[in-house]
This record gives sequence, structure tokens and C-alpha cells, in this order.
Amino acid sequence: METGTAPQVRVNGEVLDLEGTDPCTNALDWLRSRGLTGAKEGCAEGECGACAVMVARPDGVGGTHWAAVNACLAPAASLAGREVVTAEGLGTPEHLHPVQSEMAVRGGSQCGYCTPGFVCSMAAEYYRADRRATPTGADAGADDAGAPSPAHEAPGPNGFDLVAISGNLCRCTGYRPIRDAAFALGFPAVDDPLATPAEATSSAPAPCRVEGAAGSYVRPTDLAEALRLLGEHPDAVLVAGSTDWGVDVNLRGSRAPFVIGIDRLPELRALERAPQHLELGAALTLAELERGLAGEVPLLAAVLPQFASPLIRNTATVGGNLATGSPIGDLAPALLALEASVVLEGPAGSRVVPLDTHFTGYRSSVRRPDEVIRSLRVPLPLAGLTAFHKVAKRRFDDISGVAVGLALHVEDGVVARARIGVGGVAATPLRATSTEAALEGRPWTEQTVRAAAAVLREEGTPIDDHRASAAYRRAMLAASLVRLWAEGGAPEAVHA
Ligand SMILES: Cc1cc2nc3c(=O)[nH]c(=O)nc-3n(C[C@H](O)[C@H](O)[C@H](O)COP(=O)(O)OP(=O)(O)OC[C@H]3O[C@@H](n4cnc5c(N)ncnc54)[C@H](O)[C@@H]3O)c2cc1C
Ligand code: FES
Ligand code: FES
Repeated sequence: METGTAPQVRVNGEVLDLEGTDPCTNALDWLRSRGLTGAKEGCAEGECGACAVMVARPDGVGGTHWAAVNACLAPAASLAGREVVTAEGLGTPEHLHPVQSEMAVRGGSQCGYCTPGFVCSMAAEYYRADRRATPTGADAGADDAGAPSPAHEAPGPNGFDLVAISGNLCRCTGYRPIRDAAFALGFPAVDDPLATPAEATSSAPAPCRVEGAAGSYVRPTDLAEALRLLGEHPDAVLVAGSTDWGVDVNLRGSRAPFVIGIDRLPELRALERAPQHLELGAALTLAELERGLAGEVPLLAAVLPQFASPLIRNTATVGGNLATGSPIGDLAPALLALEASVVLEGPAGSRVVPLDTHFTGYRSSVRRPDEVIRSLRVPLPLAGLTAFHKVAKRRFDDISGVAVGLALHVEDGVVARARIGVGGVAATPLRATSTEAALEGRPWTEQTVRAAAAVLREEGTPIDDHRASAAYRRAMLAASLVRLWAEGGAPEAVHA
């Protein structure tokens, strides 16, 4: 598919032209304006999944797979070079797709408003290559430490993981028939045309330029071109996954005459292992990070399933999460505990900034307007005792009230090094340095933990807001360290 001069996207097998599309037109509105009205707008902020469609994405091992995403957040222009399937492309009224068929016969749909979105999330899971190998039933009910699985329920007998639909809301059917439909699914037939996404080049940078009446969307070929464009267009907006920017566009009226899409820049998408550190590319999506690390960094493995929904994680990037500077973002507390640094790239070259000196105030950082976040650098070796505690009103798909990342090196029963990152208790994510000092050099005992927990309670300057009261935030901070001890931090469980 040619994208360099005539930006196109393949939707349900048909190649469509994107030329003339404004950078602020989201994929949902664009699809619906072409008669594909299956996907719906429920919230326009990534919370309900009514707008979900499937997009072919790199699977990290040279092929592609289907990822369900929120069409309400993605700029339509960012689909250039992609292959997209909507509910209309899955089946027809005469020949329903197996997911549609199971939803129909098991009563998984009443008013039907949410159904096309559910069906796309379910179909992406239906086609997941390793679904056959997913542990089911009792095997999947608990983690190594015996704690309950982060999933609502164990995957079904067919390996279907209900977490796949945790970003989809239904207001009238009730979820039991939807779960029944999911668990009744078989496996794709060998001649299923969607079993392998036809677009084989999803991992290519796919440079494009889409000119609309209100502005341009440009996806540069490489980082050098992105930096040049950023220098030439001081009013340009960088967009990666657009899960943050899309909300600003839809609900706060943000507009931009010049948008630079950095989501597919090869320099920002590396996941590399060096002897002294891990390099996490800023444009990796959270889903890609989770798959790519495969549990290698236990602290991140604890964060990622708690981050938003799979629909968001399929698109939201590591760099985007830090670039927003949100005091309640989930990655910062974890990366502070891991002692990560931010690799910034600008016209003068790159510089490495420790994350604990990166944030300068509410949603501000040392990053200059002409710089991009290229990667996050996590030093090795990793601490032996780590945890991430996110306190939110819901277990899934919610923003933190308080988030705590903990990383302790315990040697011969003594805390040799402690790093604690906290979010939700100040204008920026920060390190709990007084608590770290209260732990370091002390025996790793319950007495030390309780004394340090009292110090942690006083870190930051939490406020009362709609997510939590200041008093509750303080209580949760203290509880976090005690919980680490109680859930496996006792000496016999610690690997120094
Ligand atoms: C429904 C919903 C649920 C969410 N849940 C969570 C949650 O549980 N936890 C959490 O932490 N966040 C959550 N978020 C926030 C959001 O998803 C994350 O902040 C996300 O990681 C942003 O990444 P992105 O690639 O989508 O950023 P974008 O929207 O593309 O960009 C956001 C900002 O970052 C800048 N930017 C992006 N990449 C770079 C880069 N490499 N260098 C410099 N600047 C860059 C952009 O210019 C823009 O200003 C949620 C959002 C939604 C809509
Ligand atoms: S419309 Fe609700 S997630 Fe997109
Ligand atoms: S069937 Fe009505 S909202 Fe789900």
C-alpha cells in the first residue's frame, strides 16, 4: 500500500483514501462518515469501548496480530498504512463471524449499542495466537505468591481471557451472557481470512502526510526528520498513541495545525538489553512492553495489567505516559523505584536525565520544546524485592488515587538499597527519600518496616480531591510498605 504520497488505509479489505482528513478528526468519526456506523460513540474518552475496532499491529516476532483499539481517540490520519477491521468486516447478517454468532445465540446483546465494540475486542482475543496455550481454570487462578490473579476470572476452557473485554462497558445486557459467548468460542478455521492480518508491513515506519483543511498530520521517516519538523513548526504537537491527546481533542477542544506522529519511529521503538541497563523505547505501547519484557522486570509486570484497559494499553505509549507529567500516571512511580533515566533527543543530540530530576512541577519537566523522549533506561541489576501498589476506586480501567513503586535490595538480611516512587501525593511523581533513608542499612524486619511506614505516611503533600482524601492517601502510603512485608517481603522470600 502506498502511503508516502497518497495516504491510504485498508478497511474491511477495501483501500480508502485519507487525503483531506484533518489531524483532529478521530478514526471513529471518519469511519462513521464513510457509512461504517457499527462502531459507536459512548464516551469519546476511551472509557466505554463502544468505538472499538481491530487494527493489524506488529506482534514483535516479525508478523502481525489484531489489536483492538479505541477509535474515538486515534486520529484517522494515524491509520495511514494500517489494516483495520470493524464489526461490519467480521461477518455479514447471512454469515456471522463466530463471535457475532455466539453473542447472538447466547443473548449477549440487548439494545446493541455496545455490541460492535464488544465484538471487536472479543474477535481480537479470538485470534490471539497463543490462546490455545493459555492456562485455564484453576491453573490460572493465582499468582506464584498465592495471591488472586489480576483477572476477574480465570480464562475460559478455550483460553479466552476476559481481561480482553475489560475496556468494554454494557449498560443493559449484564456480563454473564457475554462471558458465556466468549467461553463458547472455538478456534479460527484454517481458511479464516482474518486468521492472519493481510498487511505484512505493519512494523515499517510508513511515512505519510495527510493534509486537511484545518491542518496536517505528518508521520516522518525517522527521528532526524521528526526533530527537523519540530524545529520548523514550533506550534506542532507530537502525538504517539493519542490516548491522552485524543481526550483533549474530543472533550477539551484542543486543535493543532501541525501534528507529528511519532508512534512508528524505529528509533523510539527499540527494546534493548545491554549489560548495564535495559532500554525501553518511548513509542512502545504498554502492550508491546508487557509482551516484550515477558516478566523480566517484575515491577513493571505488576504495573502493566493494572494500567487502564487492553484497548488503551494497545495504543498508549511509555513515552506518552511520562511526557504528560501527570502526578497520577502509573509508570513514573514504578520507574522511579527502578532508578530509571529519561533519554531525551534534540537538535543538539541526546542527554540522559535521571527520572527523579526530570519533573519540575505540575505537568512540567526539564524537556525542552524541541526535544522528544527517545527511551527510558533502567539500570541493572534489578532489586530483588519489588512491588507496585495502585489504589483506585476500581480494580480495572481506573486512574490511581495513590500509586507506590517499591524496589529493595536486601543483602544478608539488611536493606542495602531502597528506592520508592510515589504518585498521587504531590504535584509531581516523586521519590520517598526520607523513607528510603529510614530503611537503608537497617535489618529487614517487621520493626524496621513499621517504623519506615510511619515515615512514608508523611511523604509528599497529598490533597483532598474526587479520587481520595489526603488522609486516605497517607494511610495508603503507610499500608503499602506493610503490605510488601506481609505479601512476601519476609526474609525467607527475599532474594538478595
Ligand atoms: C480511558 C483511559 C484510561 C487511562 N488509564 C491510565 C492509567 O491507568 N494509568 C496511567 O498512568 N495513565 C492512564 N491513562 C492516561 C494515558 O493513557 C497515558 O498517559 C498514556 O501512556 C499516554 O500515552 P500516549 O502515547 O497515548 O500519549 P499521547 O496522547 O500520544 O501524547 C500525550 C502527550 O505526550 C507527548 N508525547 C508523547 N510521546 C512523546 C515522546 N516520545 N516525547 C515527547 N513527548 C511525547 C505528546 O506530545 C502529548 O503532549 C488513561 C487514559 C485514558 C483515556
Ligand atoms: S467512545 Fe467510549 S471508548 Fe471510545
Ligand atoms: S446491549 Fe445495550 S449497552 Fe450493551
